[in-house]
Amino acid sequence: MLIIGLDMGGTTTKGVLASESGILAKTVVVASDPLAAAAGAIGKLLTDRGIQLDDVEAVALSGGRTKPLPDRILGLPVREVDEIEAVGRGGAYLAGMKECVVVSAGTGTAVVEVRIDGAKCEVRHLGGTAVGAGTLLGLGRLLLRRTSIASLMEMARKGNPKNVDLTVGDIVGGPVGRLDPDVTASNFGKVGDDVRPEDIAAGLVNMVGQVIGTVGLFAAKSVGLEESVVLVGGLMTHELLVKAAMKPFNLFGGSAVVPRDPQFATAIGASLKVLAMYTSPLGERYEA
Ligand SMILES: Nc1ncnc2c1ncn2[C@@H]1O[C@H](COP(=O)(O)OP(=O)(O)OP(=O)(O)O)[C@@H](O)[C@H]1O
Ligand SMILES: [Mg+2]
Repeated sequence: MLIIGLDMGGTTTKGVLASESGILAKTVVVASDPLAAAAGAIGKLLTDRGIQLDDVEAVALSGGRTKPLPDRILGLPVREVDEIEAVGRGGAYLAGMKECVVVSAGTGTAVVEVRIDGAKCEVRHLGGTAVGAGTLLGLGRLLLRRTSIASLMEMARKGNPKNVDLTVGDIVGGPVGRLDPDVTASNFGKVGDDVRPEDIAAGLVNMVGQVIGTVGLFAAKSVGLEESVVLVGGLMTHELLVKAAMKPFNLFGGSAVVPRDPQFATAIGASLKVLAMYTSPLGERYEA
């Protein structure tokens, strides 16, 4: 059975083609019109794999921008999956974990607790932060006139956050308790009169990554899962951002992983949920 999973995010639309044997294809579409993005993602997935529309059972729809979409797209029935549930299931699947906290760093950031026991999957929204790719892009535009995350990242690679961030060593001249002198004490706390744009870019990436990592870690600690944190979402495709998000885990105890294809977690989670509903002999069954 073939199910298409779509994640209508604030910035991008992600699509996957799923079957009982796994994820067969993935695609990312950037389009402002949700229906055009959804239809485009379906068209790309099927054309890439040489599969006909008739061979697909349903579209599993998730993400923040699902509301304006009809209940059939290109003739296929649409099954909506709650975004939090899709994030949780998809993150756990990609990391191969049964109990974890999934941090989805997209335009904004959501933190979700997942506990899987046999066919039962419990998902709980722990919270999140409005700091995410949208923040990085907005501040990048204001301060550096960069209009894409990719160009901001390229700039950040040439900079050093230590030229704009105040470190523990800058303040006390040595370590403080468990914090070594290199640890950031205050993001952008050291900006002087002459600051290089590359260092501002590096400081922005550092700040956004650290906030995401810190929020994820503390949420995970509140449910005893700090050793099992899964970082997903489009932002986690950027190595510098991942490095910054990992720092709080090294500092305060805990462990996080970034699975392969982190930007597809939500689309995959949605497709797995609908696949399970169509194929489970005991589970709830959708009628097309
Ligand atoms: N092919 C791509 N095209 C555009 N952005 C991409 C791509 N791959 C990764 N990204 C990154 O993903 C970021 C957005 O993340 P993501 O797609 O997870 O957010 P979203 O799902 O649209 O947002 P949210 O989940 O908050 O609604 C972009 O800012 C960019 O850095
Ligand atoms: Mg998203």
